[in-house]
Formats: sequence, C-alpha cells, structure tokens
Amino acid sequence: MKRLISLLVAVAAALPFSAPASAANINVVAGAVGRDVEFYREEFARFTAETGHTAEIVAMPSSTTDQFGQYKTWLSAQTEDIDIYQVDVIWAPQIDQHLADLKPAMGAEINDFFASIVESQTVNDRLVAVPLFTDAPVLYYRKDLLEKHGKSVPQTWAEMTRTAKEVMDAERAAGNDKIWGFVFQGNAYEGLTCDALEWIKSHDGGQIVEPDGAISVNNPNAAKALELAKSWVGGISPPGVLSYQEEEARGVWQTGNAVFMRNWPYAYGLGQGEDSAVRGKFDVTTLPHGGGKSAATLGGWNLAVSKYSKNQEAAIELVKFLTSREAQKRRALALTQLPTRPALYDDPEVAEVAPFFKGMVNTFLTAVPRPSAPTKRKYNEVSQAFWSAVHNTLSGNGSAADNLADLESKIKRIRGRSW
Ligand code: GLC
Repeated sequence: MKRLISLLVAVAAALPFSAPASAANINVVAGAVGRDVEFYREEFARFTAETGHTAEIVAMPSSTTDQFGQYKTWLSAQTEDIDIYQVDVIWAPQIDQHLADLKPAMGAEINDFFASIVESQTVNDRLVAVPLFTDAPVLYYRKDLLEKHGKSVPQTWAEMTRTAKEVMDAERAAGNDKIWGFVFQGNAYEGLTCDALEWIKSHDGGQIVEPDGAISVNNPNAAKALELAKSWVGGISPPGVLSYQEEEARGVWQTGNAVFMRNWPYAYGLGQGEDSAVRGKFDVTTLPHGGGKSAATLGGWNLAVSKYSKNQEAAIELVKFLTSREAQKRRALALTQLPTRPALYDDPEVAEVAPFFKGMVNTFLTAVPRPSAPTKRKYNEVSQAFWSAVHNTLSGNGSAADNLADLESKIKRIRGRSW
C-alpha cells in the first residue's frame, strides 16, 4: 500500500501542474528562418509544462510569398488542422475574414504593445493577430575591412557602391577571391518589394502606391534608384543575387564573403554565433539613402488564431504565452528579433545581446509601410507586379523607365475603378 501511494505521488508530480480537463494539441504554422523552429519547440515545451497542452510546429518555406500561397489555400478550404498562423505584417487586411478576434482575450494587456503595430493588425475594429516580433532592416558592414582599407561607414547608396567596389577590388587583389561588395534580397518575391521600396523611397521616389491610393511609382527618381541597383548586379553583387532571399544573402555574409549586407535583425545574432566567420567583425547601421532620407521597410510577424480551429481556447492561450513579455525577451536574446513591447527595449540583458536594438525603436516607428493598407485585398497582386518590374530591370530585361511605365498601367488595371 505504501509503495502504491508513493507511486501515485510520483505520477502526480510528473503531471503538469494545472492539467486542463482535456489537453489539446495545437498546430502552429510558421516560416522557418535561422533557428526559428528550434526556438518554437523550446517554447512549446515550456507551455506544455505550464498548461498541459501540447503544440507542434508545421514549418513552411522561408519565403513569405510561398507561405502566403499555402495559407490562402488552407484558409479558403477552412481547414481545421491549423490552429495558429504566424502572419506577416502585410497580410491582415487580406485574410482577416478567416481569423478570430483576439481583442477580448488580450484585454488591457494589448496596451503594453506598440500601438502602431497593434493598429496594423486591427481590421474593422477586430484584432486579427497579436504582434510577435517587429522587423526593420539594417545595413550590416564589416568593421574590420572598412578599417583596414581606411573607409568610413557609407551614408548614401552612391557612397556604399564606391566603398564596396574599392574594398572588394583591394581584397581580391590580395587573394581574397570570394569576396563581394554587397548582398541583398534580389529574388522575385516579397523580399525584393521590401528592398526596392527602400531604394526608391530614399531617392524621393515615393512608396509605389501612396497612403491616399495614388499610384506614384512611375517617376524619374524611382527609375534612378533602380538603375543604380541594376549596376550592382555582377559588379559589387554576385550575379546570383537575383535568386537570393534573406537566407542566401546571410549565407554569403556569414562565411565572410561580403563587405555589406542588407538584412533584418535576425541575422545579427546568427552572425555573432560561434560558428560564424564574421563573429566580432561587423556592426550594423541605418540603411544608406539616395539623396532623400534613409528608408527602412516595415516588416514583422504576428500570431493569428484560425476561425476554423477546434482548439480556439487553448490556441489563444498559446498566443498569449508566445507574445508574453518573458517569451519575447527569450526570443530577443536567442534570435535577435525585435520585441513588440516597448518595455523590453530598456531591459539590460536585451541591450547587452543586441546593443543596436535601442536605436531600432525609432527606425521601425518611422519605417515605411508597404502599400498594403491603401491597396487592401489587392496588395499581393500589386506587390507581385512591382517585384516583377524590379526583377526585370535588375536582370537587364528592359530599362527602369520602361518597366516602371508598364508597371503603372498594370497597377491601374489591378486597381480597376477603385481599390
Ligand atoms: C521579413 C519581414 C517581413 C517581410 C519579409 C520579406 O520576414 O519581417 O515583413 O515580408 O521579410 O522577405
């Protein structure tokens, strides 16, 4: 009898503290960049220990464009298999009808998040996703190489182009034959929309479609920005950059083969990792400008609960857990992804791991949004038309001016009578 009791006590102790009446298994679908999936699994283990519910990650390709296609298929089929979707900042107005309103569950806690990000995930007064991390790009540069060649950190794209070329040429002449000047996201996908919007906006060429819905992209400043970018391909940037997404750019950078890189903050932590060839050799700064002001495209990811989930209650609990202050702090430390809660920017541990975070607050609060708000449900089509025109230009397929003129007509057709 005594043995039986101690056995029962041992079993009870091994059970989660507050096991729910019926434990759910929650399926979370998210894109897999860097160590994202590993981190999710660590967080799920914590969540299970706390609640008794289990969770699994369904990993998607890292391309946000491919991911969106898959999400739309699932959502329009009203699949019950996915409970939580990790959604890009630009998607809320396109898929809101499939997502649960998280406002009641978040209650007053939502006031601890950046209001502008919460706003971006609110459609018709419904909070369709809770901000998980925010994103704004930086220019990564090799401190050691700039110092060695007596160069300063570039402020303009023209200066960046010159410095990249000079450092690359000198390094190659000295036998460093794999080095390139600049890597970025040149593939034909959403990432190129982000990069090209920065080039154009910082040349005073507008933001493709303006907040009032006006189509502005066909202008000489935008053409100038794209012609400059075209000159990089096969010059300071490898010809293969035309198929690079974030991870390919990071691959070249992290093996020590680029002087500059445009990328999001997640590449910082990985670049400082023990297996990185650039550990301790680089720093980050604001993206260069083209005569206007530096422009950073606003990115970021949020967690949404599917209306078709059979585990809504547990799913909402998991969203609250993953976006909590503690979990966002762990995410900032492990993945250098920017928290969506202002309080974490004053956290000394976060500041130590990513000293540039503090300065990023201003960058993402003033970041340029992609035109997803004015183009509403048509954003994806507009973005695709835009990145195709840019990709054609970079590939030498038509001049920037001609491609932008065509793009304008295409966007007008997409718009029809109104957005
Ligand atoms: C990053 C951004 C996201 C953007 C994507 C483009 O993941 O956070 O908003 O759409 O890059 O590749």
